[in-house]
Amino acid sequence: MTESANSPKISRFGSITTAPPDAILGLTEAFVADPSPTKMNLSVGVYKDATGKTPILECVKEAERQLVGCEVTKGYLPISGVSEYCSQVGDLIFGDTIDRSRLATLQTPGGTGGLRIAAGFLASQLAPIRLWTPSPTWANHLPVFASEGVPMESYRYLSADRTSFDIEGMIDDLQSKAKPGEAVLLHACCHNPTGIDPTPEQWAEIAKVLASKHLLPVIDFAYQGFGKGLQEDTASIHAVLKENEEAIVCNSFSKNFGLYSERVGGLTLVAADDSAAKASMSQLKKVVRCNYSNPPRHGAAIVSTILGDEDLTSSWHAELAAMRDRIQQLRTQFVETMKTAGSGHDFTFLLPQNGMFSYSGLNKMQVDQLKNEHSIYIVGSGRINVAGMSENRMEQLCSAVAQVLES
Ligand code: LMR
Repeated sequence: MTESANSPKISRFGSITTAPPDAILGLTEAFVADPSPTKMNLSVGVYKDATGKTPILECVKEAERQLVGCEVTKGYLPISGVSEYCSQVGDLIFGDTIDRSRLATLQTPGGTGGLRIAAGFLASQLAPIRLWTPSPTWANHLPVFASEGVPMESYRYLSADRTSFDIEGMIDDLQSKAKPGEAVLLHACCHNPTGIDPTPEQWAEIAKVLASKHLLPVIDFAYQGFGKGLQEDTASIHAVLKENEEAIVCNSFSKNFGLYSERVGGLTLVAADDSAAKASMSQLKKVVRCNYSNPPRHGAAIVSTILGDEDLTSSWHAELAAMRDRIQQLRTQFVETMKTAGSGHDFTFLLPQNGMFSYSGLNKMQVDQLKNEHSIYIVGSGRINVAGMSENRMEQLCSAVAQVLES
């Protein structure tokens, strides 16, 4: 008999404990399993049209038709992605406001892929660097940076009554607690989960504090075009760069091109000069190589095809504007319908919020009640995906919210 046959059986996997479901995507799993015919998923940030479907944009369909005819290889892409795509990312975010030789741009699998590479870069090149994150922030920010061992602290973002931006709290935390050289995570627009953005004047103030404390801005730009407009939404980044010569910007095309499942985004490191940009790029590529090796082709090829064609670009602008305007109409309809739904609760504070999400102010218990008693799924923080609401189910939603608020 061999030695292994005699030795006691060891189970490596038997003692593994079950992880809790993901704070956002786990809710969609629960939604799918819910047999209720009147269920509603307002958790994950995905746009739905009036029929409840997440559409493929017309410009995307046309770009795909063109790609089918001309794609010649499925060979690997460079580690940093397709250079034409990377320069289009630069056009969209920076325009002609910056000397392009200062930029190191990578094509990444979605915005999350970019954030993970940013985390790996901070950990490998700038450690020990502490990252200051807004409270609250996107539920996945903390695990993404924690997975690379980046230490984190939070700064105040939301006012105590949970309806507005706490500019004094944020400035005070950064001024009095952050140490020179540390990094600060910012949401360029459509803050996730609150939908509450700083004003241009507040951005200018934030930019000055970052500069005076030598803090590195790490900017998440996942919703370009869903706030005020494609150009308008870059204003916060330009304000930050006016005062700060270095930054990292992670952008996503999941939402504004509706390319959620294609995983398409970017990371741009802004350096003081071209040699720092080149050296940083070499290190970013090392982080990519030991993570996903090189990015996927298809989603970025779609974006490149659209941005490289004037007609497709103008269709995209129109389709994006239509999504943005409809989301704002839904937000207004929600606020109006809540007025007559019976809770006596005024949701007018939602109106100035931007982008896909609104922070309802519902607490964890009320969120659970919405799910358990009404099969309506929103994120535990009280975040509602306005982009998932529908005109013809607004009464149902508002009556459920009113019941939860009254109980
Ligand atoms: C969200 O916040 O719902 C989206 O960014 C999707 C995700 O990956 O969490």
